[in-house]
Amino acid sequence: MTSDLCTGYREFRFQFVDQALRICVYMRRNCLPDRRNRLDQIAYVNGSFVPLSEAKVSVLDRGFLFADGIYEVAAVLDGKLIDNASHLARLERSVGEIALALPETTARIQEIQRELVARNNLVNGMVYLEVTRGADAGRDFAFPKGVKPTLVMFTSVKDIVNAPSAKTGIAVITVPDLRWERRDIKSVALLAQVLAKQAAAEAGAGEAWMIEDGKVTEGGSSSAFILTQDDVLVTRQNSSAILPGCTRKAVVALAQERQLRVEERPFTVEEALKAKEAFITSATVFVQAVVSIDGKAVANGKPGPMTDRLREIYVDFARATAQ
Ligand code: PDD
Repeated sequence: MTSDLCTGYREFRFQFVDQALRICVYMRRNCLPDRRNRLDQIAYVNGSFVPLSEAKVSVLDRGFLFADGIYEVAAVLDGKLIDNASHLARLERSVGEIALALPETTARIQEIQRELVARNNLVNGMVYLEVTRGADAGRDFAFPKGVKPTLVMFTSVKDIVNAPSAKTGIAVITVPDLRWERRDIKSVALLAQVLAKQAAAEAGAGEAWMIEDGKVTEGGSSSAFILTQDDVLVTRQNSSAILPGCTRKAVVALAQERQLRVEERPFTVEEALKAKEAFITSATVFVQAVVSIDGKAVANGKPGPMTDRLREIYVDFARATAQ
C-alpha cells in the first residue's frame, strides 16, 4: 500500500515535472524569442541608435504631455522605403503648420531611416518616426525657448503584400468623427482614432470610417474610396477635414494614368453601400478592399476586381520606386 502510494507520488511528480518542462520549452520557442527579438530591435533616439528596451524620452517631453508632435509612417518592401519623398514632404508641411523646427534635415532623416532598416535587418514592414517639441523643465503650454525637439524612430515587421486581409477584404464600422479641425496635420494626438479603431476591433472590423455631416471623412488610419456603378473612383478631396494620404495621392495618380475617372468629393455610407467596390489606402495596408460597412455587404461582400487591380498596380509602383 505504502509502496503503491510512493510509486503513485513519484509518477505524479514525474508527470508534473515533465509538464512543467514542456511548458518551459513551449514558452522559450513561442514567447521568449519573440519578446527578446522585439527588445533587441534597434531604435533611434535623438542622435543615438539604441536597443528598443533602452530607448527612452523624458516624462516632460511635450509629445507625452501635450501630444505636441508630428509623426510619419513609411512602408518598407524588400528592405527599401516606399514613397518616402511623399512622407517626408508631408512631415515638413505638418511641422511647418505647428511651427516646429525639424532637428535634422529631411535628407539626414532619410539616412537615419535607412540605417535603422539596415540595423534591424528589416525586409518588410514600416519605419515609424516622431518629432516632438522636446522636453522643457516643466509643463508650460506655450512653446518653450531653447529646447531641442525630440526625434524618435523605430521599425516594425509586417508582410504588407501578403497580408491575409488583402485576399479577404475587411469589414468597417462607422463612428462619428470626433477629431479637431486640422486633420491635415499628422499630429500624434490620436485619441479619437484610438477610440474609433478600438470600437472597430470590438466589432470584429478592420477599420472605422469616421462620419461628419452625414459624409465619410476617412478611416481611423487610412483614406476611404468607393467605385461607383458607373466606374468612377470617388475619394474625398484634400482639405483640413482629412489627412492628405500619400498612398491616396499615388493611387489617384495611377488610376488617372490608366484613364479611370476620379472624382474628389465626399460620399455617404448609403452611396458606399450602393457602390460596386470600396477600399481603403494607407502606408501600412497599401490598397485594402472593404467588403462590409456596419454589417451590410458592399456588392457581393468580396474584394472587387478594380480594387485587386489597383492593389497590384500600387505594389508594382511601390517596388519600382522603392529607395
Ligand atoms: N495612418 N488618414 C489617416 C487619419 C491616417 O492616419 C493615415 C495613415 C492615412 C493614410 O495615409 P498614408 O497613405 O500616407 O499612410 C489617412 C498611418 C499609417 C498610421 O497612423 O499608422
